Amino acid sequence: MTQFNETELTEAVIRSFDNAPNARAKFLLQELVKSLHDYVRKTGLTFEEWDYGIDFLTRTGHKCTDTRQEFILLSDVLGVSMLVDAVNHRDRDGATETTVLGPFYVGEHKVTAHGTDISPHNLTGEKMFVQSRVTDLDGKPLAGVPVDVWHADDDGFYDSQKPNYDEAGASARARFITDSDGRFFFRTILPRSYPVPTDGPTGEMLLQTNRHAMRPAHVHFLVNARGYEPLITHVFIGGDKYLDSDVVFGVKDELIARVEQRDDPTMPDGTAVPAPWHLMTYEFRLKPGGGIAPKPLGVKVQERA
Ligand code: BEZ
Ligand code: FE
Repeated sequence: MTQFNETELTEAVIRSFDNAPNARAKFLLQELVKSLHDYVRKTGLTFEEWDYGIDFLTRTGHKCTDTRQEFILLSDVLGVSMLVDAVNHRDRDGATETTVLGPFYVGEHKVTAHGTDISPHNLTGEKMFVQSRVTDLDGKPLAGVPVDVWHADDDGFYDSQKPNYDEAGASARARFITDSDGRFFFRTILPRSYPVPTDGPTGEMLLQTNRHAMRPAHVHFLVNARGYEPLITHVFIGGDKYLDSDVVFGVKDELIARVEQRDDPTMPDGTAVPAPWHLMTYEFRLKPGGGIAPKPLGVKVQERA
């Protein structure tokens, strides 16, 4: 038979993958065909709409560079990233919750001494001290664990979004190695809520559908200990007005920290600081297991520290 009706066509395309040597690839492709064909039938997709979709995806690809990932952003705002996260982390067993990686895990995260100010050029933000500890599920401290940290500046932009990124390099991003008690600490500024990039097709979709583009203020953490599942998460700043409407659906209650406003003249490590400043305290509990942590965009090889 060479001519198919709507249903036969779907079955023929599914069968065309029958001899795929990789069983998982075969399954993923056949299910993809089923879902795509269902979508076309259900919506009665017009030629114009299909052309628009192709053009939208083409422009999404063109917007990507080594350090800009418009497809991650699209996946994030469509909730696909959080759904992939959910189906892969069904049983946390008391481990810290996970959330999206986002498109700004970019460039080298240099190993940095505890207590360092990772945002020294940011003169407008209020100062924040972050103190943290990494443990296993029983609360046993994990020593020597690399923890990558990154967050937006006080103006709502990540270093890699700035026009002078090539010369200025990393800002508000670093790698800390936990001490013998599983602890690490650093200084920075209190991040603010910020819009995801709206200068590409994903932003165009948000604006045209009357969705806001805001994320509640947060700091990203990637904790990558041998013998444990890599933990990709954020800590959100309690009280942010966008906690209930994050554009990427990434907030989980357990990840919201009560960040205290302080007036003391020094931070916990003795550094003098103008008031007010802020204190974030958060512990990460890792789940035994394995897995490969993602590499930062624009970096060819990521070594375990
Ligand atoms: C971020 O938190 O950096 C982020 C996550 C998803 C989309 C855009 C930005
Ligand atoms: Fe972020």
